[in-house]
Formats: sequence, structure tokens, C-alpha cells
Amino acid sequence: MQKIEVCFSPLLYPLYENPDAIVVVVDILRATSSIITAFHNGVEKLIPVRTVEEARTYKNKGYLIAAERDGRILDFADFGNSPDNFTPDKISGKTVVYSTTNGTQAIRMAGKHHQVLVGGFLNISAITEYLISGRRNVLILCAAWKNKFSLEDSVFAGALTDKLLKTGKFHSICDSAIAARDLWLLAKPNLISYIDKAANRHRLKKLGLDNVIEYCHTQDVTDIIPVLDKDLLVPLKKM
Ligand code: MLT
Repeated sequence: MQKIEVCFSPLLYPLYENPDAIVVVVDILRATSSIITAFHNGVEKLIPVRTVEEARTYKNKGYLIAAERDGRILDFADFGNSPDNFTPDKISGKTVVYSTTNGTQAIRMAGKHHQVLVGGFLNISAITEYLISGRRNVLILCAAWKNKFSLEDSVFAGALTDKLLKTGKFHSICDSAIAARDLWLLAKPNLISYIDKAANRHRLKKLGLDNVIEYCHTQDVTDIIPVLDKDLLVPLKKM
């Protein structure tokens, strides 16, 4: 049976790191929801970078930049980190350099795993099917907020755990996977009002960027799965 583990914070990641497993990185508000949307809308490649300096260097080389810190677009960036910034007219067929407060750090951190997938509610069923066919253990890594527990990422980790356990092909003796699943079962009947309690939801509201909350919690908008290929994010080619 394939094993599922959930890591609630990048700070705990060294305890879970397992080069043989497939890792699903999640940052529902908003990095992984935006990445999935970007590929759904035709971006060719995303270059996830950790630092503002790296993003600036790419800008000076003429790259298109999507970048935020603490939710705010960086002054030299072409656009910010809302899924609705990644429209086909801006990004289709292009390479975009991408840097965010938490999400891109978590993606880069996970690079030593067998495979790094980008997950969210937007592609949850496609991810589930792929993980079943992958026949490997799975780690769900929550990008969280500056290493602090995040409700929406953990609820997603629970939703994915629930789907995987229901297939009968997975098992978990990881307490954080069990807790995440319990949280999902609590939140599921009224997901959006549950997420109303999340700190990230309040942060985005203050910035006037909370128009994407419902969208970021919508299941199965696409079956595209972004995957890390060396230093680049590209759409996964399914066999
Ligand atoms: C992140 O990666 O930190 C974020 O998704 C933050 C945001 O979008 O506001």
C-alpha cells in the first residue's frame, strides 16, 4: 500500500523529506492556485524563484515577472499573484518568472523528491488519479504562511488525503494526515464559510484581493498538473 504523509509547515519539512516519494506542494491562497490557473490558461513554463533579487535579475534580462511579497505586487513585476492576473492574453505560450512569499519557496525546497507536483482544489481529481498510478508514497507539503500553520492548505491536504484513502490503495499512520482529513470533514459541508476563519483570507481582504477565495476552493477546474522539471515548472505529460 502507498503511504500518505502531510507536512503542515516548511519548517517541519526536514522531518518528512523522502527522495523516493512524490510530493504535492499546496498553497491554496494563492500560489499553487495561480500556478495551476497559469497552465490552464496556456503559459508554457514558469520559473519559480525564491528571492526578490533573483526575480529582478530575470527582469533585467527581459523576462515577464509575476511576483509578490506579503500579497503586494513588487514594483518591478509585470503582475502580481492573483489567479485572475494569469489571463491567456498575458501569458499564453510564454515563460514567466514567478516569486511569492511562501509558495515558490516550498516548491524549490521540495526539489529533492522523486517528483514535485503543484496541487490545489482546482486540479484535485487529476492529482488523485496521477498519485494512484504513480505507485509511490505521497507527501503533501503545505506552503503555509511564513512557516506558520495555514487553515486552507491543511484543509486541502485533508481533502486529498480523504480522496486517496477512499481508493483503498493508500494508508496513513501519520497523525497530521489524519488531523487534516478530520479538518476537511469538518469544513467540507460549508467550505467557504469555514475558510472565512483563515488568517490568509483576512490578509487578502485587507488588501482588496479576496475576490478569488471561492475560485481557489473550486474543485476540478482543470486536469492539468504542473510539475517541477529541474528548475522549471511545466505541465505534466501523462502516459
Ligand atoms: C505565497 O506564495 O506566499 C502566496 O500565495 C501569497 C499570496 O498570494 O498572497
